[in-house]
Amino acid sequence: MNKYYVGIATTFHDPALAMVDSNGEVLFAEATERYLQEKRAYNCPADVREMVRRILKKYCDPHAEFVIAKPWSRGMHRLMEFQHLLGLTNHERLPRCTEKLTRFLVDEHVMFSSLWLQYISFNLSGGNLADILCTTFGNNKISYVRFPHHVAHAASACLTSPFQEAACMVVDGQGEWGAITYFDYRDGKLKKVAQMRGPESLGILYAICTELCGFSPEKGEEWKLMGLAPYGKLDPEIHNDLKSLVKINGLTFKYPPLRQLNEWRARMKKRARKKDAPALDMADFAFTTQFFYAEVMTTLLNNFHALGLSDNLILGGGCALNSSFNGQIVEKTKFKRLHVPSAPSDDGNALGCALLAYYQDHPDRKPKAVVQSPYLGSSIEEHSLANLTRFGRIQKMRHLPQTVHLEAARLLSEGKLLGWVQGRAEFGPRALGNRSILADPRPADMKDRINALVKFREEFRPFAPSILDEFGPEYFENYQLSPYMERTLTFKESAREKVPAIIHVNRTGRLQSVRREWNPRYYDLIRAFHDLTGVPMLLNTSFNIMGKPIIHSLEDALGLFYTTGLDALVIEDYLIEK
Ligand SMILES: [Fe+2]
Repeated sequence: MNKYYVGIATTFHDPALAMVDSNGEVLFAEATERYLQEKRAYNCPADVREMVRRILKKYCDPHAEFVIAKPWSRGMHRLMEFQHLLGLTNHERLPRCTEKLTRFLVDEHVMFSSLWLQYISFNLSGGNLADILCTTFGNNKISYVRFPHHVAHAASACLTSPFQEAACMVVDGQGEWGAITYFDYRDGKLKKVAQMRGPESLGILYAICTELCGFSPEKGEEWKLMGLAPYGKLDPEIHNDLKSLVKINGLTFKYPPLRQLNEWRARMKKRARKKDAPALDMADFAFTTQFFYAEVMTTLLNNFHALGLSDNLILGGGCALNSSFNGQIVEKTKFKRLHVPSAPSDDGNALGCALLAYYQDHPDRKPKAVVQSPYLGSSIEEHSLANLTRFGRIQKMRHLPQTVHLEAARLLSEGKLLGWVQGRAEFGPRALGNRSILADPRPADMKDRINALVKFREEFRPFAPSILDEFGPEYFENYQLSPYMERTLTFKESAREKVPAIIHVNRTGRLQSVRREWNPRYYDLIRAFHDLTGVPMLLNTSFNIMGKPIIHSLEDALGLFYTTGLDALVIEDYLIEK
């Protein structure tokens, strides 16, 4: 009988849902923010009812047996449910949760407050899926399983990795008992090696520095700090202050006693960005923060490597989104190879839990150790496409089943801005050529044009390149494969003249390596662009506007197309021009 393993990410931010079948194949994985079109979907259940109904009908047999798997351990759940029963939670206070949490941890130097617990508890039930299975399909063959938060992170990273064995480090804001856990991964099994327990957290520290720069960690604006950093230089005073906070001992670190922590906090607050001051005022602060983060991580990773587990490193947890540091790991540390999954943050825990539940049921089976496709999300609804062609009355729409990539490449080579929607959406925060806005990387003013016409974001933030893998070594120093845009590498000096629109001020780019076997449509498009221009890469930015999630439906795509300066839109085989 068919059996499905549904993972539900239940942290108060970035809820997500993933499904694995009885052969261990990933059927579906998507962050709920896409369906809701609400950035990070704070305090929303992962299993939104209408979304679940569609998934059940499309990807599985709703009458089969189901295992519902969640991150956060059973003991933690009980504690939180108890708090909830006692009325210690207050959901009305949730929206500014990360900010409050950040402040709370720094101000009070405690890890678990009722404030912290209430945030997680909100999404504990996740009962919509079970309810729909039961009431709509008369299915009560449902069981539940839970996994510790960092185990879920490690599973989503390791069980989707191309490695047979690796050392795995999970680094995030906070798990059940701490913010860093180390695992030994081999033969498809995870073994915990060490764990940092206590309030210390690199993720929270980075979030605090993000806030001091005037950006919002609640909105996930750590990107902005990272993008701003290359404009600055090391400030020795800030550096010393940051170093005074973190005392590394082997695989863990400690904060100083409370009195010193209070003094540290007061000093840092004085450095906060002034009201109405330009972001560039904080460039040295951003640079020093990123430098410090890399310094701490390098030391911890080298200490981890010294255990002799493996030369392969797998990184999981929200901090694994730090692409600037990820790109330095192979050069700076003793690890020789790196894997970071497409969704290392809490949304990825949906997939981690689903896979853990599957392998718990099938202890003799091993993961395939290949690059996991990130194209696991929703596709454009067929009836929407049918309605578009039937009722749309769009003047300049063409159906080009064999040649749409050639036409798109031609438009791009003429400097046009193109929305590109193909197949299934990416799982994780990056657009990887299925929900992308694309442009020619050659004109120096292309970045400003996209910002002015479509994205409306800060001028200091770079745009990323998608490059055909075989051309990587020609354009990048010490090229590494980067299938999910998970690492930032340095361009060769010779590239600066060729593709200025996607080269950051420090000559780096957060690249996506593209192989035909991973995404034939996207590969063919970049190939066609290369045939026309001699350049094997495109500027690739996510198909959204600032502050909104990546588009989900055909209607989202059309809405964004007609309300921004995009010149053309490709949806599957259809090309629409303005
Ligand atoms: Fe996490």
